[in-house]
Amino acid sequence: MDGLPWQVQAMAIVDANLAGKRLVIEETGTPVEKLRVQAFRPPPVGTGQVLVRMLAAPVNPADLNFIEGTYGVQPVLPTTPGVEGCGVVETSGAADYQPGDRVIFLRRAATWATHTVAAAETLFKLPTAIDPLQAAMLKVNPATAWRLLHGFGKPEAGGWIVQNAGNSAVGRCVIQLARAMGLRTLSLVRRPELMAELTRLGGEVVLLDDEAGLAAAKAALGGATAALAFNAVGGDSALRLMNLLRDGGVHITFGAMAKRPLTVPNGLLIFRDLQLRGLWVTRWIEHAPAAEVRAVYADLAARVTAGTLVQAVDSTHPLDAFPAALARLTAADRAGKVLFVPCC
Ligand SMILES: NC(=O)c1ccc[n+]([C@@H]2O[C@H](COP(=O)([O-])OP(=O)(O)OC[C@H]3O[C@@H](n4cnc5c(N)ncnc54)[C@H](OP(=O)(O)O)[C@@H]3O)[C@@H](O)[C@H]2O)c1
Repeated sequence: MDGLPWQVQAMAIVDANLAGKRLVIEETGTPVEKLRVQAFRPPPVGTGQVLVRMLAAPVNPADLNFIEGTYGVQPVLPTTPGVEGCGVVETSGAADYQPGDRVIFLRRAATWATHTVAAAETLFKLPTAIDPLQAAMLKVNPATAWRLLHGFGKPEAGGWIVQNAGNSAVGRCVIQLARAMGLRTLSLVRRPELMAELTRLGGEVVLLDDEAGLAAAKAALGGATAALAFNAVGGDSALRLMNLLRDGGVHITFGAMAKRPLTVPNGLLIFRDLQLRGLWVTRWIEHAPAAEVRAVYADLAARVTAGTLVQAVDSTHPLDAFPAALARLTAADRAGKVLFVPCC
């Protein structure tokens, strides 16, 4: 019964009156119509579980798709959304975690709540110096950028990577990680006012995502072509990226912001042998060897702590203010991620 003392301590810490709050949906549909705030009592932790007090949890496109019922996995209703977030261990039923540890979740963990219980084996312990807002955004987008850059062959140093949605959280992570790898990025964006900011972040070429932008991109590449293209938009934008790839280059679709399918001219496959691939980072997290996944997160967490991998923050909101948070997502001047700060 070696583990008993900390289990007893854990149970003693759980306050039967601990009042929690969470966002819930009882059916899928338009997020602002389906979400509601619910009071709840966080359950006592069992052996191997941890109760986490949530510091911050972002609103990602995947969360909206999950609530709408259009994501790759369907919600089991009722449920609390939130695919990622950062919190502090409040009560631990696992030897590896102590109250006060700062953690993120490597599995879906109902993070749009003041408290959530997770299996300790699904947590990742963070450096204490990490910024909680940046940490809350660590699981999904930095890892997606990392997989895009490492999961589809090794681009040669000095080579070009092209991407659309350059201003997205993933796009910004790609710019920073690619630069650290000695790669050059050409990013297409839909808002001209963002171009200078992305250049300052390390983007070598940033252009508008339209036909004039494609012509300017070809001129900027000066006859060079890209080994990899990262597509988060779909439709015409995805095709523009194909036109910047080298023969045999790899075009990876990981998002569909424009909600438009890919239309691929036959010649790009017949004469140029482009490879069309996809990425779902969840599949990698769940199926890659655990040691590989944890090594990548250790690397990314160190970069975030050092300030060399940064995501933009638009605004933070308490859970009760979810309509205001959702409204920021479609604001013309949104300047980064929208996050809930449940325990503010
Ligand atoms: N497959 C995976 O494992 C995986 C992992 C992470 C993310 N994703 C996907 O990657 C995409 C980006 O995610 P994120 O969290 O980085 O996004 P984000 O930070 O919320 O930014 C969204 C981006 O999409 C652009 N955008 C929005 N609506 C658009 C439209 N109708 N047409 C063209 N562009 C549009 C925005 O442009 P502005 O900057 O001009 O507003 C912005 O750059 C999403 O589709 C997300 O689901 C997939």
